[in-house]
Amino acid sequence: MEITIRRIMLADVAVLSAIAQQTFYDTFTGTCSEADMQGFLEQYYNEGQITKELSNENDLYFFAEIDSKPVGYIRFMEDYSNLPLMKQWKALELKRIYVLKEFHGMGIAQNLMDFMLDFALKEKYQVIWLGVWEHNLRAQKFYEKYGFVNSGHTHDFPIGNTPQTDFWFWKFL
Ligand SMILES: CC(C)(COP(=O)(O)OP(=O)(O)OC[C@H]1O[C@@H](n2cnc3c(N)ncnc32)[C@H](O)[C@@H]1OP(=O)(O)O)[C@@H](O)C(=O)NCCC(=O)NCCS
Repeated sequence: MEITIRRIMLADVAVLSAIAQQTFYDTFTGTCSEADMQGFLEQYYNEGQITKELSNENDLYFFAEIDSKPVGYIRFMEDYSNLPLMKQWKALELKRIYVLKEFHGMGIAQNLMDFMLDFALKEKYQVIWLGVWEHNLRAQKFYEKYGFVNSGHTHDFPIGNTPQTDFWFWKFL
C-alpha cells in the first residue's frame, strides 16, 4: 500500500471540506448534541472558511492519499494566537490530524506525522504543540508514541453549547 503526501491546493476545497466534516463528525459525534455538531461543522468547515485558510501560504494543509484518493489530512502552522506563551520559542502548532476511520491503525497517521516532523526539523522549530480533547485517549496515545507530553496547560474547546476541555500537548525538538 503506497501512501503519498501532497499539499492541498485551492482546487481541492470541496474534497477537503467533505473529508474534514466526515472525520470531525466521526470523532466527536455523541459527545455533543446533533445541533451543536451541525452548527460547528457549518461554522468551521464550510468551503468559504477553508478557502480562506488554503489561500494563506503559511497555513500548511496536506493530504495523505492512496491511489490518488485522500484518506486523511494534516494541518500545521506557525501561529501563536491560541497559546501566546509559545512565543518564547520558534513553535509550530499541529492544528489537525485526521484519518478516515476505516484507515485507522494502518500507518497513515504515522506518515502524516513523520512528514510534519521532517518539516519542523528542516525549518529548525524548537517545539511542536497541539490541542487534544481530554477524553480522546486514542489520539493521546498516538501523540505519546511520538514523544509528545501533556504540558499541564488546558483550554476550552466548546462545540456549540457543549463545553469541552482540551489538553495542550507539546514535544521539544
Ligand atoms: C488520532 C489518529 C490520527 C491516530 O491515527 P491511528 O492510525 O489511529 O494511530 P495508531 O493506531 O498508530 O495509534 C493509536 C494508538 O492508540 C491505541 N488505541 C486505540 N484505541 C484506543 C482507546 N480507545 N484508548 C486508548 N488507546 C487506544 C492504539 O492501540 C494505538 O496504540 P499502539 O500502537 O500502542 O497499539 C486517528 O485515530 C484519527 O484520525 N482519529 C480521529 C481524529 C482525531 O482524533 N484526531 C486528533 C484530534 S486531536
